[in-house]
Formats: sequence, C-alpha cells, structure tokens
Amino acid sequence: MKIDILSIFPEMFTGVLQSSILKKAADKGAVEYRVTDFREFASDKHKKVDDYPFGGGAGMVLKAQPIFDAVESLQGPTTAKKPRVILMCPQGERYTQQKAEELAKEDHLIFICGHYEGYDERIREHIVTDELSIGDYVLTGGELASMVIVDSVVRLLPDVLGKVESHEQDSFSTGLLEHPHYTRPADFRGMKVPDVLLSGNHAHIEKWRSKEMLKRTWERRPDLFDAYTLTKEQEEWL
Ligand code: ADE
Repeated sequence: MKIDILSIFPEMFTGVLQSSILKKAADKGAVEYRVTDFREFASDKHKKVDDYPFGGGAGMVLKAQPIFDAVESLQGPTTAKKPRVILMCPQGERYTQQKAEELAKEDHLIFICGHYEGYDERIREHIVTDELSIGDYVLTGGELASMVIVDSVVRLLPDVLGKVESHEQDSFSTGLLEHPHYTRPADFRGMKVPDVLLSGNHAHIEKWRSKEMLKRTWERRPDLFDAYTLTKEQEEWL
C-alpha cells in the first residue's frame, strides 16, 4: 500500500512513521509512506496556502490550488486505480474499525491535513473521496488524526502483525470488546488469576472468554449490540 500525507508540518510525522510497527511495516515493504509539504505547490511567490473567506468572517480558508496540484501530482497514471483521497476534519464521518478494514483493502491512500478555519469547498467537491473525523472534539490540525488512521490501517495489512500481535481478536473487529487477559504470576500479591485459565481445558477457556466479552461489552459499550447478532447460546448468557 502507498500512503501519501499532505501537510505543511511534515516534521510531525517523523517519529510516528519511523517507530515500532509502522516502521517495521515499511521495512518489510508492506507500506510506503510519503509526506509532502503542500506549501511547495503554492503558485504565488509568497507560497501562501490560505486566504480570507469570501463573504467575510473570522479565520482563514485553505486554498484550492495547492491541494489540487499536490493531489494531482501524487495520483499517478490515470490508468491506475484511483486513490482514496481522505480529508481530515471534525465534520467528517466518525472513524471506526470497520472503516479501517475498508481502507486496508486499498492500494493507495492520500490524506489531506489542514490547520484552518475551513477548506475551500471545491476541495471537498472535486478531490476528496472521504471526510473522516476521529471523534467529536477539535484538534489544532488534521495531522494527529491522520496518524491515528494510518496506524490503525497499517496494522491490518497482510504480514504486518505477527501471530503474537494478531488483530483477529481485536476489540471491535469481532463486534464486541475483548475479554480480560492475565500473564504470570498466577498469584500476584494475593490477586489471583481465574482458575479456568489455569485449567488447561480449552473448551472451558473459550466459553469463559466469550462470556467475558459479552459482559464487558454490556457494561461498557451496550451500543455495540445494535450492530451485533447474538447466538442462541449468547442470548442465554445475557
Ligand atoms: N481536524 C481537527 N479536528 C479533527 C478531528 N476531530 N478529526 C479529524 N480531523 C480533525
């Protein structure tokens, strides 16, 4: 997968893309990152990327021209599958694990990160395929939000996570929250690991885990049941 990020603060990405699993994924060739300062595409001599809003009002608006030119230069040959062009903004669709799974199937993602009161609407209308928000709060810019999305997508790419870190049992990908985990020692300061986990009986362990997933989801995120179909056995447990 190719990931392009457009930002006037490219230095913000250095540590994140060059650490841990995001770095390993690039080293393995599963992903290629490219961070582009779209100020380089500004056509005026002062390299301005924003301007006053038509009609007046507070704040500046990100200009269409540098973004159009930058995206067009990154898009590649017109014969290739069109990349998804993702605009980071608090008004976007709320980002979920389901969306991460959808994006992980793409060959090329382009993220647009702005720092302004707004984006010229023509960017939304003609360039962008998805507008995404990572939550109902306002960040100083789209950079951190795009990093959240990149992280959650890259870990889903084939061969990025080893078996140990596998994402198949992740909270949300199963539709439920994860069950509790324990590691050694079995007794820590008198706090004991549930007996069933030490029993060696895999059928019992699986059943305990399934019940705990239901319980945890019920207590913390009952809204997740709206999109979840309970099995007959699970219905009895609830
Ligand atoms: N830019 C500013 N706030 C944001 C948010 N919550 N999600 C995505 N992009 C943003």
